[in-house]
Amino acid sequence: MKFAKLVVASHNQGKIKEIKQMLAPYQVDVVSADDLKLPDVEETGKTFEENARLKAETLAKMSGFYCLGDDSGLCVNCLDGKPGVYSARYAPNRDFDKAMDMLLDEIKATGSKDRSAYFSCVLAVAKPNGRTKVFEGRVNGSIAEKKSGSNGFGYDPIFIPEGYSKSFANFTNEEKNAISHRGRAFQKMIAEIFKEKKKS
Ligand code: IMP
Repeated sequence: MKFAKLVVASHNQGKIKEIKQMLAPYQVDVVSADDLKLPDVEETGKTFEENARLKAETLAKMSGFYCLGDDSGLCVNCLDGKPGVYSARYAPNRDFDKAMDMLLDEIKATGSKDRSAYFSCVLAVAKPNGRTKVFEGRVNGSIAEKKSGSNGFGYDPIFIPEGYSKSFANFTNEEKNAISHRGRAFQKMIAEIFKEKKKS
């Protein structure tokens, strides 16, 4: 893929900063939807991939530049994959402390002993008037009995990744990025699209 500019289909400054940092070693000018006065694209898809594609393809068409869209969330198996694509909207007024309590109550109410869950992140890179490439990263784990830790964001305090006995909220950023759904999706995207663009 030959392109010099990549538009991130997001208005979330934290996310844009993180993406800029991850792509800093590569020859690509990362700009946000805000920078180009592009609108917010509503997440109307039923899957992470649909939402990631929707954001990337809509803004690639509008701007004429290559565009990166992403979507992510937590899927709990005994709740049939809930909250899934609704992970952000599941939190009342973006209060994730409350959302985690609600989720723990919902799991308890099922009576199930199965606490397995996974985080998924899908990245879509859309070419204006062309094909879209999609990359998925996933991390399996389980839902803790109670919240612990203060790092990270969202559902981190109740998610224990497979092979560990502490929640994501007890990991440093670097430790989490090395095994997280987002980190894995980025590693795949970089290997396929950005490797050849490494700054010398
Ligand atoms: P979005 O990908 O910006 O739409 O966000 C999806 C939602 O999923 C976030 O608001 C978080 O609640 C949740 N989520 C996604 N990734 C993580 C993570 O790494 N840790 C905790 N929660 C996450």
